[in-house]
Amino acid sequence: MTKKIGVQQSAIAVFLAAVFLIGITDKATAANDELIKQGQYMVWAGGCIGCHTDVKNKKPELAGGLALKTPFGVFYSPNITPDKETGIGNWTDEDFVKAFRQGLSPDNDHYYPVFPYPTYTKMRDADILAIKAYLFSLKPVRNVVEDHNVQPPFGMRFLQAFWKAMNFMPGEFQDVPNKSAEWNRGAYLVEAVGHCGECHTPRSDLGALDHSMALAGTLKGPDGGLVPNITPHPKTGIGEWDEDEIIELLKNGVKPDYDDVQGGMEEAVNFGLKYLTDADLKAMAVYLLSLEPIDNLIEKPKK
Ligand code: HEC
Ligand code: HEC
Repeated sequence: MTKKIGVQQSAIAVFLAAVFLIGITDKATAANDELIKQGQYMVWAGGCIGCHTDVKNKKPELAGGLALKTPFGVFYSPNITPDKETGIGNWTDEDFVKAFRQGLSPDNDHYYPVFPYPTYTKMRDADILAIKAYLFSLKPVRNVVEDHNVQPPFGMRFLQAFWKAMNFMPGEFQDVPNKSAEWNRGAYLVEAVGHCGECHTPRSDLGALDHSMALAGTLKGPDGGLVPNITPHPKTGIGEWDEDEIIELLKNGVKPDYDDVQGGMEEAVNFGLKYLTDADLKAMAVYLLSLEPIDNLIEKPKK
């Protein structure tokens, strides 16, 4: 009799423990799903897909191999799917944060700033780790990527240490206390994640961003193209645009004169910005329109 009760009791105990554990794992999976979703959102905002996908050769998303032409040579974006041999499948959380915050590989080699770590250094740990969770939720793709073809002396990776010493300020974005939450969200998205300045800010001959001309446009953008001034200068920037017009451009790639955006901007929209929430797009517009206008006319040189 007592024995039977004992068995029943332990059966109930096992049952209850199982219910409890399922509850915990359910919660854990739900939390992990949330993290993956947050990471996917940051991948959209961060424009990773545009650089890390070789669309022309029909390679899978984020499997790398896209040739990026720069004044210093041709760089091939790495495979960032979780393949253990040809991707980043062996990376730890620390490796991932180090790459973004410090521009260092797991073996402490310096990355070239064509990986926009000088901007991504401002991203928050939580967002960087969410991106890792998202990337690691993807199917690993085996794809061996070509070596960079960079002119001497730039081909020597260790020389990047000098470039960094001169041009790189590591550190997470800090909210500006007397600004609204919306403004700070917009600032974070524009200055850290969206890396708008990587295209819209002119560079020195050594490829460092000229922060005194932040977002004021350049004739020498990526692929040698023209990138407009997006400070709110009424004549040479976007000072005459209202918030809705900026939101429309970031969401649908359409300018106030109904022209479609082209080139790098079209990619930024299609590979990610268009998926951002209206609240986030508005925050970016609010931030852009609050900037100090810089008078910088960006026009195609007349032939
Ligand atoms: C403008 C193009 C560009 C963008 C945008 C970009 N990357 Fe990269 N990324 C590169 C290049 C090029 C390298 C290789 C740099 C090197 O070899 O020094 C790289 C390197 C990396 C590495 C190191 C890989 C390795 O095998 O060492 C990771 C991880 C990475 N990128 C993730 C991302 C993520 C996540 C995003 C979006 C938030 C992103 N990248 C956005 C071009 C880009
Ligand atoms: C890969 C490079 C690249 C990135 C990254 C980029 N842009 Fe652009 N952007 C361009 C180019 C090139 C144009 C011009 C496109 C055209 O006129 O067809 C442009 C145009 C624009 C315009 C229209 C300006 C005008 O006068 O027509 C706005 C606004 C803009 N970008 C905002 C942003 C914001 C905000 C971000 C960051 C979230 C961003 N861009 C990131 C390259 C880029």
